[in-house]
Amino acid sequence: MKLGIVGKGGVGKTTVSALLADAYAATGRRVVAIDTDSNPNLGFSLGLTAEETEAVPPLPRSVIVGARGDLTVDDVIDDYGRTTPAGVTLLSAIKVTQAGGGCTCGGHATVRSLLSETLDGRADVTLIDMEAGLEHLSRSGGTLAHADILLVVMEPSRKAVITAARTVQLAAELGIPAVLGLGNKAEQPADVELFGELCAEHGVRLAGVIPFDADIAAANRAGARLGASEAAPVRDELDRVVTLLDDVLVASSV
Ligand SMILES: Nc1ncnc2c1ncn2[C@@H]1O[C@H](COP(=O)(O)OP(=O)(O)OP(=O)(O)O)[C@@H](O)[C@H]1O
Ligand SMILES: [Mg+2]
Repeated sequence: MKLGIVGKGGVGKTTVSALLADAYAATGRRVVAIDTDSNPNLGFSLGLTAEETEAVPPLPRSVIVGARGDLTVDDVIDDYGRTTPAGVTLLSAIKVTQAGGGCTCGGHATVRSLLSETLDGRADVTLIDMEAGLEHLSRSGGTLAHADILLVVMEPSRKAVITAARTVQLAAELGIPAVLGLGNKAEQPADVELFGELCAEHGVRLAGVIPFDADIAAANRAGARLGASEAAPVRDELDRVVTLLDDVLVASSV
C-alpha cells in the first residue's frame, strides 16, 4: 500500500503519519515512511533524536529509480533509509540544505519515480508525509500520481474540508484510486458532528476522526516519539482507520 498523507499546513499530517506508521509497524508490517518536508521532522515523531534526524541523508534529486534507472529500490532503501525506534524505515526526500539552492522539483521527481516502482519486496506499507499544499498534485506528473490512497488530514474547520474536496478532484484527475478525509484534533462531540456534516456536504469520504490528545501535543512540543503514550480513543480510532484502509485498497484494486 502506498499511502499519501496530505492536507493544509499544521493540520497534523506529520503527527498522523507517525501514528499510522507506528500502528502499521505494530501489526508486524514492514513500513517505509518518506518525509517530503523541506524541513524534515518526521524522524522525531518516529523516535530519532535531533542529531539522528538531521543525519538522515536526503535522497538524491531527479533520480530514476528502477532496475534500469540510476538507483534500484534496494539501493534507495539500503543507502538512504534509516531504521527508527518505531521499527519504521525513514527516508528523507526533499530536505533543503542550502539557501538559494533552487527549487525542490528534483526531489519530488525522485519520490514520484520511487513510488512508480513496486515496493512490495521491501515494504508492506509506504507512507508519504507530504509538505502542506496541493503542489504534489499540481506539479508536472504529480509527486503522488502512483499512490494507492490519499488521506487528507483535516482540522475541524470548513476550510480544511474544502481543501480535502479540492484534493479529491485533483487526485481523481491524476488517476489516484482512492482519496479519503481524516478528521484530526477533535476536542468535543460537536467537532465529530461537524466533520460528518461538512464531509457529506462537500462529497468527502470520511475515514475517521482522531481526537485532540494532550499527550500527542506534549510529545510534539518535546520533539519526542509518538505512538507510545496516546490515550485509548486515539489508538482505537487508528486501528479502525488501518482496517478501513485495507478494505479501501482491496475495493479500489478490483
Ligand atoms: N491529535 C492531536 N492531538 C493534539 N495535538 C495535535 C494532534 N494532531 C496534531 N497536533 C498538533 O498540531 C500541531 C501540528 O501538527 P503537525 O506538525 O503534525 O502538522 P503538519 O500538518 O505536519 O504541519 P506542517 O504543515 O507544518 O507540516 C502540532 O503542534 C501537534 O502537536
Ligand atoms: Mg508536517
